Amino acid sequence: MTTISSQSLEESTAGNKAAPPCIMVIFGATGDLTGRKLVPALYNLSRDGQLPAHFACVGFARREKTHEIFREEMHQAINTYSRVKPADEKLWGAFKEQIFYHRSEFHDDAGYEALGQLLQELDHKLGTKGNRIFYLSTQPSFFPLIIQKLSQHGLIYSPTDHSKWSKVIIEKPFGHDLASAQDLQRLISQYLDESQIYRIDHYLGKETVQNLLVFRFCNPIFESIWNNHHIDHVQITVSEEIGIGTRGHFFEEAGMLRDIVQNHMMQLLSIVAMEPPAHLTAPAIHSEKVKVMESIRPIPQEQCREFAVRGQYGEGFINGTPVCAYRQEANVPPDSNVETYVALELAIDSWRWAGVPFYLRAGKRLPKRSTEIAIVFKEPPPCLFQSGKHIAPNVLVIRIQPDEGIALKMNCKVPGINGPIQPVKMDFRYGSYFGLSPPEAYERLLCDCMIGDSTLFARADEVLASWKLLTPVLDFWSRSSPIFPNYAAGSWGPEEADKLLARTGRKWRWI
Ligand code: BG6
Repeated sequence: MTTISSQSLEESTAGNKAAPPCIMVIFGATGDLTGRKLVPALYNLSRDGQLPAHFACVGFARREKTHEIFREEMHQAINTYSRVKPADEKLWGAFKEQIFYHRSEFHDDAGYEALGQLLQELDHKLGTKGNRIFYLSTQPSFFPLIIQKLSQHGLIYSPTDHSKWSKVIIEKPFGHDLASAQDLQRLISQYLDESQIYRIDHYLGKETVQNLLVFRFCNPIFESIWNNHHIDHVQITVSEEIGIGTRGHFFEEAGMLRDIVQNHMMQLLSIVAMEPPAHLTAPAIHSEKVKVMESIRPIPQEQCREFAVRGQYGEGFINGTPVCAYRQEANVPPDSNVETYVALELAIDSWRWAGVPFYLRAGKRLPKRSTEIAIVFKEPPPCLFQSGKHIAPNVLVIRIQPDEGIALKMNCKVPGINGPIQPVKMDFRYGSYFGLSPPEAYERLLCDCMIGDSTLFARADEVLASWKLLTPVLDFWSRSSPIFPNYAAGSWGPEEADKLLARTGRKWRWI
């Protein structure tokens, strides 16, 4: 294990590239994400020798606190949430010296001036060479203000300045619908070049999502059947056991379509459906994903009811424990119409996918945490074996999390003289095969941003194409009142979601 003190390299390496010296400033540093994900990710990067030797992290937030108090909070956070825990005390001792706290309001000019001075001092002390990452982990309404202030105070450099760089990571949601995403894009592009903007979608940093490209384009046996000649339909599921917890305020503004479908699920869909890119470069991959999103058939308002289902959980049981309804959660009004479940049927109008429905479902308070992509192949013809009777189709299941792996379901003869046909499973599991815990999504993404690789971030046109597709559904929903709650916590969602598939004789996979 490499420790900071023993790290002799001027620059560390991620993959083949070196992460250059830099300072990362986290806006909204007292929020959940900093302690749960960002600082543990930086700690693990440092532990694995992937963080630049010349590095600092500055938390920027409105609450009064000292560097020492912030450090101690981050220490506790690492002990609680880090992939590797508790913190190694020797490593922590060195790592904490790179963590700082800066108190300011987001609109306060003096606060940005003082930030600029602090960053310069750190450059001199730690050798961070003027390079900056500004991570916006605040409420989205602050994004334009912070970017404008950073620019006004000379903290955003020109992209043509090759002596040092500045980049901005923007947390999701990027906009609230198509118009607001376009507005945000217009606003921030007054101050930033696209090459300086990193729109984060942490699903893209997951090991299993990165492996999708390798799986598809390094295994010709699958790629050659990856089309409407062989595939009947595709199901993408993001099911969560958790409810809303302390995030009632946030979720009331978001809902499941904005929180999960517009970003994480549309990214998964576009990687599953994209054509092979010309190169493994960020622009080539982004362009292929945009082509997929632009080929998805728009859902006309009058057909929203038919192709989009929403739900909200009522009381129920999760693992035998009673849980409350969404409308009883903290900071949720008792008549809330915000959806905690979404199911969609999408059609991609392309040569490869014509006639292959893509079914998406995402829900809170479902029986099991599972994110998976299931490629359901066409059924064998009803002749020869079990003549006239249904034989189960082959299904390829890519388990994104948990129990990461890939399974192929195929039919097999049960041994014996009259052995019937039974589906069996060939199963690859990351855990047992590689015996390693993969890096957390944020580790990979922070490192990529330092290096300047935006492949695993979302480009503006991807985000806008996704909003363009889904905004009519949001508009339709905002004009009609649903009958909520319509599924019990601990069930697999509303009946209407089953009907979405049943009308063509299909079913959701049993997970
Ligand atoms: C976040 C959403 O983006 O993703 C949360 O805001 C959701 O509501 C989370 O729970 C799921 O992430 P993961 O990595 O646990 O699947």
